[in-house]
Formats: sequence, structure tokens, C-alpha cells
Amino acid sequence: MPASGSDPSGQSARDLTHHLEGLVPELETVLAATASDQELEAVRVQFLGRKGRLSGIMSELPKLAPDQRPLVGQIANQIKSRLQALVDQRLSRLKQDKELKVLTYFDPSLPGLTAWQGSLHPITLVTEEICAAFGSLGFELVEGPELETDFHNFEALNLPPDHPARDMQDTFYITENTLLRTHTSPLQVRTMLRKRPPLAAIAPGKVYRRDSDLTHTPMFHQIEGFLVDTDVSMTDLRGTLTAFVHKIFEPKTVVRFRPSFFPFTEPSAEVDISCMLCGGSGQSAGAPCRVCKQTGWLEILGCGMIDPAVFTAVGYDAELYTGFAFGLGVERVAMLKYGIGDLRMFFENDVRFVSQFA
Ligand code: PHE
Repeated sequence: MPASGSDPSGQSARDLTHHLEGLVPELETVLAATASDQELEAVRVQFLGRKGRLSGIMSELPKLAPDQRPLVGQIANQIKSRLQALVDQRLSRLKQDKELKVLTYFDPSLPGLTAWQGSLHPITLVTEEICAAFGSLGFELVEGPELETDFHNFEALNLPPDHPARDMQDTFYITENTLLRTHTSPLQVRTMLRKRPPLAAIAPGKVYRRDSDLTHTPMFHQIEGFLVDTDVSMTDLRGTLTAFVHKIFEPKTVVRFRPSFFPFTEPSAEVDISCMLCGGSGQSAGAPCRVCKQTGWLEILGCGMIDPAVFTAVGYDAELYTGFAFGLGVERVAMLKYGIGDLRMFFENDVRFVSQFA
């Protein structure tokens, strides 16, 4: 150790300066090993605290020759600032590391968790779509009670009490004269009793029949449409229903009218559309088409020209007015439209099924 500048106590300005400067690399080494704010604070106290290393060396200052003190004091202050700067640096580094650690298990580029959103039931969707299609053709939306009178559900629709066609519809009776409506056709009666022609209405709703198997449920949904005016013909019915089919299904779908019977329409027809799976050929992928059972056609609704007996029942002049009516099953249209093979899916309310229509 060089002895120059030594004083009586044996402490030289050079020794103190040397010790002071030695604190910097020493602190650097110790700081590098700190892993937490607490460890860092302990190190800060150890070097910069009131009884720390720096203070320890500074307490030697009075032992120096008076003329040497200012210079060493100045160096000590510089070292103090450097030590403080190193501690601050380490503090921000630890903070950064903490944030980085969060980033390794939290990937901000991943899509966020979206709130679970409900979806409309396919029956609701198809009902709304069909009602909107007829709405755009000028049909007014009407609704009515599910608990009906015998008069609205049967009598006024040309189905007197002993009419054999009542057997076609297995009715849930509540009393002798009240029942759960078996179809939406009573909406024809209710609307005609309320309004005078010309009128055009679309009427969705739940209907009930005592029927329950793979292809029938005791409650299902129908949509009734009807139009009354002077000079309404079967051609109007054909044109309207063809336009509707092309709106709901593919535009290339072929529409076929097949003679049928309903007590409240004359003539009556059932409407078939060409099978969407096999395109009407009856063959799909070289095998008999399972959707149309090889016929190439799918029945979608019943319709006809409103029977004069219905007009008479609601007080319309049957000589003056003509009109058409149709009724379709919403479940059936939804099954064909979405390719749903099992009717029960609509009623199980499994969210995995329903959410596919969101
Ligand atoms: N109400 C008939 C049914 O439920 C359908 C229909 C409505 C037929 C209107 C002709 C006219 O089967």
C-alpha cells in the first residue's frame, strides 16, 4: 500500500478514496443477486443506510488532515449518488421483470373472453323470417288466443259438430266448448269478424294436438296466411306462395300444387317443393334420397280458396268476396331449411343446439 499522504491515525486520503470507489463494483455484484423489493431494500440499507458501508467510510473523514477533507468529501458525495443511481436502476429492473413474468402467462394477443350471449330459437328465427317475407308482400301480422272456442276453431271453419273431418285433428278439450286450438285457422275467423275486406294477414302461433311420437309433438307451431278481396283467384295464391318459397328456400326450388281437401277451402291443395337434398331426382350420392324418401318432393303446406261457407259464418257476402288461405308447420319448414333430422331437437332446448342458430 503506498504510504503517501498518510496522517497520524494511519488513514490516508488515498485509502479512503480507494474504499469509497470499491463500493461501486461491490454494490453492483450484490444488487445483481437481489430478486425482490425487500432484498433490494436490505442492500440499500447495508450500503447507503445511516449505519451502512458508506457512512462507515465517511466516519473516518475527520481523521484526515483538514486540507484533504474537502476533496475526499466531494468524492464521497459522487460515490453516494452513483450508489443511489445503481439502486434505483435495479428497482426499475425488478419492476420490469415482474411485468414480464405476468406477460409470460398472460398473452395479450389472445382473443378475450366474450360474455355468453343468448341466441334465438330456430323456431323463432323461421317464424320471424316467414312473417317478414309476407310483411314485405303487404300482409298484416295478427295473433290470437291459444285457448279457443269450438266456434272459431271448428264451426265457423265449416266443421259442424258431427263433421267427420274433426277426427283429423285430435283435440285437447278444456270444456265442451273450449279447447286448445288445433290449428291457426281460427285467426282467419277472428280477423274476418273484426275487419272488412280487402284484407291480408299473416298469423303465427302455437297449436295443440293429441299426438306424440317421433314426428309429432303435442304442441307445435303454425303460420296461417290469408287474403280476402273481390276477384281473388287461385293464380294469386300460386303466385304468392311461389314467391314465398323462393324467398325462404333457394330460388331454383320448384313448387308443385297437389289437389287435397280441407273443409274451409274449396278447392284445396297441398304444396310440395322439390327436395333440397337430391334436387328432385330422388337419388342422393347414388342412393335413395333419405330426405324425400326417393319421391323428389317435400310437402310444406296446405292451402286453398276460402270456402263460401266461411264467409257466410263471419257475415261476409260470399257472392262478392273471394280469398285464399294457407297454413304451414314451422317445425317442418325449419327442419327442411336447416337440415335438422329430429323434431325433438326443437323441444329439448339444449343450448349446444340452439346456439348454432345465433
Ligand atoms: N289448418 C290446416 C291444417 O292445420 C292448414 C290449412 C290452412 C289448410 C289454411 C288450408 C288453408 O292442416
